Amino acid sequence: MARTVHAARLASLLGDFGRDPAYAGLADGVRALVDEGRVPTGTRLPSERDLVAALGVSRTTVARAYAALRDSGYLVSRQGSGSVAQLPPGRGHRGDHLLSPGVDPDGPEGTGTGDVVDLTCAAPAPPPEVHEAYRRGVEALPAHLGGTGYYPSGMAVLRQAVAEGYARRGLPTDPGQVVVVAGAQAGVALTARSLLGPGDRVVVESPTYPNAIATLARAGGRVLGSDVLDDGSDTDGLATTLRQVLPRVAYLIPDFHNPTGVLRDDAARERVAATLRRTGTTAIVDESMVALPLEGQAMPLPFAAHAPDTISVGSISKPYWGGLRVGWLRLPESRLAGVLAERLALDLGAPVLEQLVSADLLAAGDGLLGARREGLRAARDAALAAIATHLPDWTLTPPGGGLCLWCRLPAPLSTALTVRAREHGVLLAPGPAFAPEGGLDRYVRLPFTQTPAVMTDAVERLATAWAETLADPAPGAGVGRAPSPVLVA
Ligand SMILES: Cc1ncc(COP(=O)(O)O)c(C=O)c1O
Repeated sequence: MARTVHAARLASLLGDFGRDPAYAGLADGVRALVDEGRVPTGTRLPSERDLVAALGVSRTTVARAYAALRDSGYLVSRQGSGSVAQLPPGRGHRGDHLLSPGVDPDGPEGTGTGDVVDLTCAAPAPPPEVHEAYRRGVEALPAHLGGTGYYPSGMAVLRQAVAEGYARRGLPTDPGQVVVVAGAQAGVALTARSLLGPGDRVVVESPTYPNAIATLARAGGRVLGSDVLDDGSDTDGLATTLRQVLPRVAYLIPDFHNPTGVLRDDAARERVAATLRRTGTTAIVDESMVALPLEGQAMPLPFAAHAPDTISVGSISKPYWGGLRVGWLRLPESRLAGVLAERLALDLGAPVLEQLVSADLLAAGDGLLGARREGLRAARDAALAAIATHLPDWTLTPPGGGLCLWCRLPAPLSTALTVRAREHGVLLAPGPAFAPEGGLDRYVRLPFTQTPAVMTDAVERLATAWAETLADPAPGAGVGRAPSPVLVA
């Protein structure tokens, strides 16, 4: 069945667009949405007449914009299907979603190569201890080579280490409640499949982690956003949304939320948990960033301590390395069977060596994380200082942990900025990538996952890109030249 984006939805995805002239701004906006994958290829665009009504622009504006999109290969007219979005040849990057265009695929991933700074992923390179843990993992491997290597719930040693981690955080946990998965994203996907049916409502924070939006939607969820304010003062708003929407599931990131960095305190957790109890909603709580407090602060109790029906999702990726592809679920007993059944329909477990390495890293407790946190703090502070100097009209609340700065721009030009930034060798995900229901072009996420010197350099380049964006907010040819990256983590 052909997908369709209705006129009102397209208008909301487009947000503000350049009006000088309006047809070029409109075409640029649609190109950017297709490049970002927010209007997927193969989607039927609204008729010219419907779009005229939704946007309040003239018929000529829409007709000229569609013609420009056809000329640049972003639109094709198909018999019986009207105007269908497509990526021009060579823009699809379907082969490997991890590749950002312009980055050498053979180069060291995650750091960019040459002069390119890749800030599309909030994921740092591993500390040296990861290599050492791999060495020890290889030494421990022979003890496991007598069996099949299939552990659909996870290896005992890792489940034990994860359970001990929860106990240290104040939430007694039986290793039997833990299911090892191939990263937090896989955990959210698995959980979503087991909880959601077609059309079930899901409340997420807005902004939120883009791949979670995608996986919740693909599991059939109707994803609705509730505003996150970057000072965290939005608990009432979230409670109201939950009461109004009565969702089946709420996907929440209470620990250094990606992208805003907000940390919910125990009072906020308790308030949300009480509302969830009333609305009969199950929380999927993504704890990917929980091990990254950067100010030595005491952390609140895990969300599941307030809401026992919660499915908690954890990961080794952010504190240690995404390349391990190891994460876990902590489930209430009542949900174990359903999730395990779904798991067997999806995959049969995580790799043995990586589970051994992860267990080794977790067993060291917080000991290994001191240097990691120190490095991130220095990178964050360098980025903040560079923003204050070079981009003084950008505003943000400095986060106390996690990996991201969520910057508010003085104009809704995030998507245009990311196109310009790419020309200066900085790869970024624009604000709308984090929007469950469109908008957020006034924000840009800046992960502080590089060294302080690279962060400073990146912000300086961004300042140049921002000045150019303000001077020419609709870089007509620019959008055509440079697609947005396709992986945002
Ligand atoms: C909130 C959140 N959840 C999940 C993930 C994916 O993590 P993993 O590598 O464990 O799949 C990320 C990575 O950026 C994230 O920020």
